[in-house]
Amino acid sequence: MQTRKKSWVKPTITQHGGSTLNKFGRMPMKDYIDTIEGVSIASLVKDYGSPLFVLSEKQLRENVRKLRQTFESRYQHVVYGWSYKTNYLNTVCSILHQEGAWAEVVSIFEYEKARALGVPANRILFNGPHKSRETLQRCVEEGARIHIDNTDELYLLESVAQAANKPVDVTIRLNFDTGYTEAWSRFGFNIESGQAINAAKRIGSSQWLHLCGLHSHIGTFILDSRAYSSQVKIMCDFMKTAEQQTGCVISSIDIGGGFASKNDLHGMYQPAEQIVPSIEQYADAICTTLIQETADREAAGKPRPTLIMESGRSVIDDAEMLISSIVSTRRLPDGRAAAVMDAGVNLLFTAFWYNHRIQPTRLLEGVAEDTVLYGPLCMNIDVIRQSIMMPPLSVGDSLVVSPVGAYNNTQWMQFIEYRPNIVMIHEDGQTSVIREAEDLAFMNQLEKMPEHVVGNHQYD
Ligand SMILES: Cc1ncc(COP(=O)(O)O)c(C=O)c1O
Repeated sequence: MQTRKKSWVKPTITQHGGSTLNKFGRMPMKDYIDTIEGVSIASLVKDYGSPLFVLSEKQLRENVRKLRQTFESRYQHVVYGWSYKTNYLNTVCSILHQEGAWAEVVSIFEYEKARALGVPANRILFNGPHKSRETLQRCVEEGARIHIDNTDELYLLESVAQAANKPVDVTIRLNFDTGYTEAWSRFGFNIESGQAINAAKRIGSSQWLHLCGLHSHIGTFILDSRAYSSQVKIMCDFMKTAEQQTGCVISSIDIGGGFASKNDLHGMYQPAEQIVPSIEQYADAICTTLIQETADREAAGKPRPTLIMESGRSVIDDAEMLISSIVSTRRLPDGRAAAVMDAGVNLLFTAFWYNHRIQPTRLLEGVAEDTVLYGPLCMNIDVIRQSIMMPPLSVGDSLVVSPVGAYNNTQWMQFIEYRPNIVMIHEDGQTSVIREAEDLAFMNQLEKMPEHVVGNHQYD
């Protein structure tokens, strides 16, 4: 039998800390990944370059189907709205619309994106604190579902509806203390202070606005599903009060998003795998409370409200990975190992709050040691990981960062570097680019130089 020659590993001197495990207590690192859904990572890098975002169509479809089935098997009227800001790549949105998702948007840009993808206006939930008169005019004209955020917007919408001579069905966004989450009081009307019921009454007295929906988004990455029971109970109590006091009939309760994904937040003591509630646990908390709190509606001749959800990160996060290559290695003066990757916080905004899973693409030999992973930016803040145990890395090694599907392809920055290709692995294993890497022509297309500053450079 032929034995494989071991590759040479750079020798390292490792300090033996008295309080921590020394190198004799460490296990070799066995974790590595060399394919994604059967496609070799080396071939992806060869064909599409590095860094590279890789989206899994299969995972995305599975995630949204699971979410919808879990809720639809517990409550009869459920609508799922895809939160565009989480990831508004056209391919991602389109797949989710194929799976029955409505669009949840928070700006005219996102609204136009959804419309351009073919989403009917009455399947668009329009949230957010900034809706101009022109935006509201368009929404009223096209019949989008407007979620009013504040009193100024309420008056503006009323005047738009009046000018269009078209009464408008509206939802109001609420904020309140669930007892489990920090209240996001900067959005919507506050229940405890009476602001929310005043808004409902004001709408009740308007000829142009009809209150028919309630919305709230209690926060993000919520690890205690009891927060959702509390949210639904508070919203149902408010629904009853608003209906009694204004004569409106509420036909939908939108609970926003917030389900956690399987990512490790900075400072989280236990791994996400152990503490993130399952979709079933979230659904039990929400649907059980909603069923209890609306039990007497049918007898009163009112339909049970439609449950609307806007879950973002839990649907997309684990459907995308980032492949990045090591471009240099160094030893820091304090003895720690460090490596520079070709992807930094410019591409991975979520590195500011997550410790992503980071896996090599080959079995790394040698002793794992405390390593800092930097990005390529000439900026001190560009750190993908302050501390990770890794055997020595070499230039050209690839690392796979996951899950990265939520809030990176929307919050990434074009800063210093071009943004890279995004490819999708189709359900049948084919791959294709779904967003091309940027280049200079792309970067320059919006710039305009006054004629007198063109050329005539003086370098002396
Ligand atoms: C109104 C609204 N809905 C849905 C979401 C999606 O949240 P998540 O990704 O935490 O599910 C957000 C995110 O901030 C939001 O503001």
